[in-house]
Amino acid sequence: MTTSLLMSDTLREDVLQWLKQEVPEKRLRHILRVEEMAIALAQHHGLSVALVQQAGLMHDLAKCFPPKQLLAVAEAEGWTLDPAEVACPHLLHAPVGAVVARDTFGVSDERVLKAISNHTLGSPDMDAISCVVYLADALEPGRGDTLKLQRLRDQSYRNLQGAVYETCVFSLQHLLENRRPIHPRTILTHNGFLNARHCQHSVDSAA
Ligand SMILES: [Fe+2]
Ligand SMILES: [Fe+2]
Repeated sequence: MTTSLLMSDTLREDVLQWLKQEVPEKRLRHILRVEEMAIALAQHHGLSVALVQQAGLMHDLAKCFPPKQLLAVAEAEGWTLDPAEVACPHLLHAPVGAVVARDTFGVSDERVLKAISNHTLGSPDMDAISCVVYLADALEPGRGDTLKLQRLRDQSYRNLQGAVYETCVFSLQHLLENRRPIHPRTILTHNGFLNARHCQHSVDSAA
C-alpha cells in the first residue's frame, strides 16, 4: 500500500542526534539532501515515503567508521568479503550502515536495510526503494550541476530502472577514468539493469 506519511519524529530525532556525534557537518548536509531527494522520488513514484525516508536518512551511518571497525563488523556478521572490499574496506560502509540501523535504531524492515546496504554498489535485484536511495545518493544536488547530472535527475523521475542503469554507467565511467578498482557487484548491477531499463518502475512491490 502506498503511504505518504513521513517516518516518526522520534526516530528521526534519535538518528540525527547520533549522526551529529558520528559524522562531520558536511556529511550531515549530504545525508539531509539524500533524505529530501529520496522523499521527493518516493512521492512521485508512489512508494512508502516513511520507508524511503528511513533508508535515506540512515544510508551513511557508517560512512566515517575506520577500516578496522568496518572489517570487525563484517567478521562478526560472518560476511565473505570480495577482494575489492579487503583492499578498500570503506566499501563496507553501506552494509555496515544497515547493521547499525538494525542494532542501534531497531530497523527491521528488510526493504530499508537492503536499501542502506545497496546504496553504493547497487544490486541487480534492487526493488524500487533501493533504486530511489541509490539514485538520491548519487544525484542529490550537492553532487554538482552538470548537464549529465541534470539529465540523470530528470530520468530518475521518469523511469527508475533506466535511471539506475544510466547512473551505474556514469559511475563505471568515473571509476575507469580515475583508474579505480571496480567491485564485481557494480558490474552485476549494470548487467541486471541493462535489460530492465525499458520496463516501467511501477511494477515493483515496494509501493
Ligand atoms: Fe555512502
Ligand atoms: Fe551518501
